[in-house]
Amino acid sequence: MRRDKHLRLLVTYIIFLLAANSFSSLLGEAASEKNTKKGGDQNGDQNVAAVPPAQASKLRYNHYRTTRCSKVESVVTTEVTKRSKRDPTLIAALLRLFFHDCFANKQCDASLLIKKMPKNEKTELHSGSNVGIKGLAFMDYLKTKVVESCNGSNIVSCADILALAARDAYVLASKRPAYPVLLGRLDGMVSLVKDADSLPGARTPINTIVSVFKDAGFTTEEAVILSGAHTIGEAKCKFFNDRLHNFLNTKKPDRTMDPALVEQLKKICPNMTANLESPAFLDQGTRRVFDKSYFVQVTRQRGVLQSDQNLFANAATKQFVTGLASGTEENFLSKFEKAMAKLGNLGATTNYKGNIRRVCSVLN
Ligand code: HEM
Repeated sequence: MRRDKHLRLLVTYIIFLLAANSFSSLLGEAASEKNTKKGGDQNGDQNVAAVPPAQASKLRYNHYRTTRCSKVESVVTTEVTKRSKRDPTLIAALLRLFFHDCFANKQCDASLLIKKMPKNEKTELHSGSNVGIKGLAFMDYLKTKVVESCNGSNIVSCADILALAARDAYVLASKRPAYPVLLGRLDGMVSLVKDADSLPGARTPINTIVSVFKDAGFTTEEAVILSGAHTIGEAKCKFFNDRLHNFLNTKKPDRTMDPALVEQLKKICPNMTANLESPAFLDQGTRRVFDKSYFVQVTRQRGVLQSDQNLFANAATKQFVTGLASGTEENFLSKFEKAMAKLGNLGATTNYKGNIRRVCSVLN
């Protein structure tokens, strides 16, 4: 009898513990949702299927499936496809935007899109690496289209929209099936120029580039693979004109650039002071197609940026360039997709303070 009583007490105690635990986690979720609402304007619509409280640490496929925004992926795909037909430069712009956003503070939080901070602090957009970066207005437009398609609910973060738009840009240029994108990111509430200053530039030494990637959790091979994004898009003369006219103050071209390419590019960038903003294709092989041609060009000394060509001058990176150039398209593209997915997960475990911005370029 006594033993039975003890057993009953024990079972009651365990049930009590379990109940208390789930109650406190319910409370936690409610608080988290409240915080999101406070900062992020989730519309307060009681009829909307419950949005799982967005948490930077819990990205999921189909994050919006049970919400009013269940069609977000197709909306983004439609809009990116439509606009890029009118303006093919959008594809490269979206890929670069995504990389610069994710790398700046190692968080894919759309902080790059913020134009102004409350105390006028300089934002990521003020960084030299981001001067003239394209695609900002399109992101604001895309956000309005997404909200419209969600019957006015502001549920999808700009960070998620950017991750989807970059994926779609890649799919359009590579003609590959869409790779799945984890969703549920929050939009960052801070954008500071210092966070973007670590972004690599055209004249950043190769060792520094490798270590910047390493700091963000990427291997040397992944750094090379992601650089393959330069298979599309353009660079302005100011980023490579020294290689044509006055490399390392020698008043001569860079000897690691194919002389035929030097002559070709001189037509766009005739000297060190003219046409500084004129663009040249980064991949002089297949210009608007997402393929391994960039690596083939680099092995032929036809990389446009010094940072591109340096990938072939450094023993650690050269082996990967050679492998990607001689491998199949499938080899490069499948590796690129994996690296892009990894890029999109930056910040996923940091639980940064975030919300859902109403306008991507403006803090709520
Ligand atoms: C490895 C270090 C990298 C360096 C040093 C670098 C540097 C640059 C520079 C200087 C430009 C030309 C910008 C201009 O003329 O305004 C550029 C363009 C571009 N970058 Fe990178 N980049 C790097 C990695 C990446 C990565 C990892 C991606 C994407 C995953 C990327 C995507 C692009 C694209 C698509 C363009 C063309 C943009 C356009 O045409 O609008 N870059 N990059």
